[in-house]
Amino acid sequence: MQWSERRAARAVAAPRVVGIDDLRTLARRRLPRVVFDYIDGGAEGEVTMRGNRRAFEAVTFRPRHAVATATCGLQTTVLGMPLDLPLLLAPIGSSRLFWPQGEIVAARAANMAGTAYVLSTMSGCRLEDVKAATTCPAWYQLYLAGGRDAARAAIARAAAAGFSALVITIDTPVAGLRERDVRNGSTELLTRRPWAMLPYLPQVLARPRWLADFLSDGGLMTFPNVDIPGEGPMRYANVGEALGQAMVTWDDVRWIRDAWRGPIVVKGVLTGDDARRAMEEGAQAIVVSNHGGRQLDGVSPTLRALPEVAAAVNGRIDVLLDGGIWRGADIVKALCLGAQAVLVGRAYAYGLGAAGGVGVTRAIEILRTGLVRTLTLLGCPSVAALDRSYLEVPADWHVDRFDRGAPVSTAPPWT
Ligand SMILES: Cc1cc2nc3c(=O)[nH]c(=O)nc-3n(C[C@H](O)[C@H](O)[C@H](O)COP(=O)(O)O)c2cc1C
Repeated sequence: MQWSERRAARAVAAPRVVGIDDLRTLARRRLPRVVFDYIDGGAEGEVTMRGNRRAFEAVTFRPRHAVATATCGLQTTVLGMPLDLPLLLAPIGSSRLFWPQGEIVAARAANMAGTAYVLSTMSGCRLEDVKAATTCPAWYQLYLAGGRDAARAAIARAAAAGFSALVITIDTPVAGLRERDVRNGSTELLTRRPWAMLPYLPQVLARPRWLADFLSDGGLMTFPNVDIPGEGPMRYANVGEALGQAMVTWDDVRWIRDAWRGPIVVKGVLTGDDARRAMEEGAQAIVVSNHGGRQLDGVSPTLRALPEVAAAVNGRIDVLLDGGIWRGADIVKALCLGAQAVLVGRAYAYGLGAAGGVGVTRAIEILRTGLVRTLTLLGCPSVAALDRSYLEVPADWHVDRFDRGAPVSTAPPWT
């Protein structure tokens, strides 16, 4: 480890950083407001974003005390791939704005933790370079930004580079309205027109350390994995506009399935109906996700949607969950309700924005130690042994209706 990295590692050690909230505070200090709010914000009133975390608070544990758990198994498999932890790093677009070479740095941290990294289409690093940074599984998340030809080229490159699964995000027919981004001038700052940019520049100039890193990394990135025929890599124009033209339909999923030989993961499922549809269209795994509350505000918290989806899937494919994972205890709750593993988004993005690779490693460490501690306090020997019996779920969640294998019926037993 270089001296600068050692210093950064000290900066994210306890007692300065004890939980994910502390990494968030450090990220807020280092990043310009427009970048921090891009990570931190949600759509419209941010009701779903807050709801994701509150749902974890609403569920309580039923521990088995005085049970010795000599071992604490954290290993799992997803899509048949062994992982040392039941958490993967979620696709986060524009990570290169948070830290130089952000996607490569995050993939390296995932590798050190023995887990998988999911690379967003909207990334600033070449997918080949990101894959080369890890020997653990890496998955490629596909948007149809730039059209089918650009997607076909990216799929071929991802296969050649060794990505082992393709993640298709289905909850972005348009970009959600993230009001903070509008207020911070995220569109104006990309115009390269000085008069339009001027009112929003002070927030950038107020973060000279970040600015120096950003300029040393080449300034505003392009999207090298969206190679548009005749045009080259997509420019960092308004990402929202690109997403608006990139809606994925089930028709597209069929087309993608023909273009990609490996497993397909559908991300953005919130109902049993969509879960069944995803299975019919050939998905080998699904992610119960509301995009971290960044798309349709007002949808269910993901933990609350999980039992219905898990019941519809009934063990036939892997179910993952993301949204609001802040603590190891959150991961345990998701696993008890039927997830095989979780994806973590903001929790590691704060670490990346705060301190680069050591920040991501610290975020993973916080979640890992929390996971071990929660399992031990619960009296459960491994993540594989978790089930509903370790939880008390609020009665109005009607989870019993969705228990795996049980018929989805509200009829009383005597009828
Ligand atoms: C800054 C940011 C950028 C994101 N970019 C993408 C993306 O490019 N593709 C995608 O499928 N999901 C994207 N997401 C959603 C995440 O993959 C994930 O679903 C979400 O962050 C999970 O919620 P959490 O942040 O509360 O953990 C993004 C999320 C954030 C916070």
